[in-house]
Amino acid sequence: MNPSAVTVTLRGCARRFNHHQALHPLDLTVQPGETLVLLGPSGCGKTTTLRIISGLERCDPGGEVWFGERNVTALPIEKRNVGMVFQNYALFPNLNVAGNVAYGLKVQGVARAEREARVREMLELVDLGALAQRGIDKLSGGQKQRVALARALAARPKVLLFDEPLAALDARLRDRLRHEIGALLKKLAITAVYVTHDQQEAMALGDRIAVMEQGRLVQVDTPQRIYQHPASKFVADFVGAINCVAVDAQGTPQRFCRPEDVLLADDHRYNGQGRVVASTFLGASQRLLIDIGLAAPIQVDRHAREAWHAGQPVSWALADADALQFSAV
Ligand SMILES: Nc1ncnc2c1ncn2[C@@H]1O[C@H](COP(=O)(O)OP(=O)(O)O)[C@@H](O)[C@H]1O
Ligand SMILES: [Mg+2]
Repeated sequence: MNPSAVTVTLRGCARRFNHHQALHPLDLTVQPGETLVLLGPSGCGKTTTLRIISGLERCDPGGEVWFGERNVTALPIEKRNVGMVFQNYALFPNLNVAGNVAYGLKVQGVARAEREARVREMLELVDLGALAQRGIDKLSGGQKQRVALARALAARPKVLLFDEPLAALDARLRDRLRHEIGALLKKLAITAVYVTHDQQEAMALGDRIAVMEQGRLVQVDTPQRIYQHPASKFVADFVGAINCVAVDAQGTPQRFCRPEDVLLADDHRYNGQGRVVASTFLGASQRLLIDIGLAAPIQVDRHAREAWHAGQPVSWALADADALQFSAV
């Protein structure tokens, strides 16, 4: 563990803009060295929460932000020692790669020799050692984001904050940089808060995920627990696909599950009867739509090489252990 890693604590942090309650009073603890992902749909309050942690935004009176034993609520961002990485890079276009990474150190008054050593170290860390003298406009999006990461790390921040850093990149680059950031966060064991609306990114990077809905935290848990034991239908839906497999007499959904947990057979092995409506080829897998007599067909994931065809009668079942149980409604 990184002995200098700090705990970040939010106590009763709320934020109201005019007549809109962007954040309801929120309590959250990020453990030392942990990567906590804030996950939720656009407008749910992720950026506001991150900005309150950073000092770019104040929470409404009554709320408190603590870094370890220190109450930082009243401190502006430059006194909080945080590093930030944004979607739009926010690099200085008139400075080269090394100049961008060195900028904050210069402002802090770090001596030249120390500064140059640290810039070299940070550029090595993000695998950009060879591009130190390159102009920012000659970099790809992925390289720009690595410069932004090196710049954020150069000042040895106590807390690292990310706001959708991969959202502007194409899918391949996003995957690669996600792996790199994940490896770096593990290696540095720095306390980090990472905002995204992408559930795969959240699961790949988060030690824990905090799911937000309309300005509130609705579940804070490990990625496994969030996926397998979502607290509500909203959480279940947001982190993956769900099926309703049973309704009560009024037609209210009663039983839910993930598409990969439905047992399916082309004979009468199982009790449930259904019919294949369609199959979508997804490369490694296929997603079948099965009409089981409810309002909406259920989704079932199978290996892509299996032969299923529209119109085919099937039988299905769901093990009790695989039914999702929502603890909150
Ligand atoms: N400076 C602001 N002035 C007014 N409303 C704001 C401001 N910043 C955010 N909001 C509103 O607060 C809500 C939460 O915004 P934000 O934290 O940016 O959400 P997210 O990052 O999850 O998309 C949104 O409804 C947004 O429009
Ligand atoms: Mg945002």
